[in-house]
Amino acid sequence: MTIRILTGITTTGTPHLGNYAGAIRPAIVASRQSDVDSFYFLADYHALIKCDDPLRIQRSRLEIAATWLAAGLDVERVTFYRQSDIPEIPELTWLLTCVAAKGLLNRAHAYKASVDKNVETGEDPDAGITMGLYSYPVLMAADILMFNAHQVPVGRDQIQHVEMARDIGQRFNHLFGKGKEFFVMPEALIEESVATLPGLDGRKMSKSYDNTIPLFSGAKEMKDAISRIVTDSRAPGEAKDPDNSHLFTLYQAFSTPEQCAEFRSDLLQGLGWGEAKSRLFSVLDAQLGEARDKYHGLIERPADLEDILLTGAEKARRVATPFLEELREAVGLRSFRSVVQSADAGKKKAAKGARFVSFREDDGSFRFRLLAADGEQLLLSRTFADGKAAGAVSKQLQQGGELDLRAEGEHFTLWLDGACVAESPVFVDAAARDSAIETLKQALAPQQD
Ligand code: TRP
Repeated sequence: MTIRILTGITTTGTPHLGNYAGAIRPAIVASRQSDVDSFYFLADYHALIKCDDPLRIQRSRLEIAATWLAAGLDVERVTFYRQSDIPEIPELTWLLTCVAAKGLLNRAHAYKASVDKNVETGEDPDAGITMGLYSYPVLMAADILMFNAHQVPVGRDQIQHVEMARDIGQRFNHLFGKGKEFFVMPEALIEESVATLPGLDGRKMSKSYDNTIPLFSGAKEMKDAISRIVTDSRAPGEAKDPDNSHLFTLYQAFSTPEQCAEFRSDLLQGLGWGEAKSRLFSVLDAQLGEARDKYHGLIERPADLEDILLTGAEKARRVATPFLEELREAVGLRSFRSVVQSADAGKKKAAKGARFVSFREDDGSFRFRLLAADGEQLLLSRTFADGKAAGAVSKQLQQGGELDLRAEGEHFTLWLDGACVAESPVFVDAAARDSAIETLKQALAPQQD
């Protein structure tokens, strides 16, 4: 089975070396596995929760997109897109908001931390807290559930959000699924083996500690940062302790085992810190220099990046659009055309309950589906230039005349006036096909009473 992996990157900053080793590099490695279908996206709606500086949002989206591509993400293999290019996501967010328990969201760590801080300082508990922050886990649930991700690689601070996505998804399944599981239950994937890189001062490398080493900004910037790595005061010639040196930890994360062993033994033998720093720079530059050039090339061609991301969005929407249509249908946001038709057929036995659902394709053409009472798809029509033409065909099918059904392999087609107007899905075998034909005939049979 193919595993679907999905993760989002909030677009508020510029990626640094720690992000690269901790998230970008392992994600790119994972995306190359043959049994994995990866969805990576820029969580720019999430960024708006934390940041109200439009220039910074824009800059960060561009930089993060360029970073992932320069680092080797293959957009032919993975689906790489901006959250804000997928209108189905905010739409699903609302459907989920309507089933998410407020009590669940009250318990979200990020919200609770802000409340605690307010209480501590004697403020109103909700001072400065937006609905964006409060509803953040629902938006994240929509990101994950929209694509039915099995695994969600995240940092430890995000585990709770993935659990909330399960909760909310389960609730939706329960309320509207009628036995059908719309949403797959996602699992948080915590990579234990992935390095948390130390920053210049030895604490975890993080923008909030201002101790980062830049990733692609430039060789000089990288060199300058490395020169500021804090070391002990042992002089050249004195033995160093690699196991208590974050400079060594950094070296280790980017070197081959052989390079690393050599570096270790040189430190033990008294390699000076100055020399050690230039060796760290060399190993980083050798690994990242080419990607850095690629990064600057991409940043200079923002229109090309735009095209790449829009293509990614199209790919993502090929999944999201029909799925959301199904979910809208499930909650009762159905076309009036199908409602009118079932009202016409109001005297039909309730058990029949099949319904026509019309919808529009991305290219503007119209189609309809015929769904059985249990939601199973019986037919998908061909495309029609306008809604009227599609409506006329579905109406004609309900007149109850003789149906021209043609079984072909594991599926069947439906013909009207010598033209194929709709086809069934492919069934597992001919028996399943025939039973669907039977259901279809019953659904469209004229009224008995
Ligand atoms: N909230 C995540 C973070 O701050 C980013 C994110 C948004 C995300 N949507 C997601 C991660 C969906 C995984 C899946 O790191």
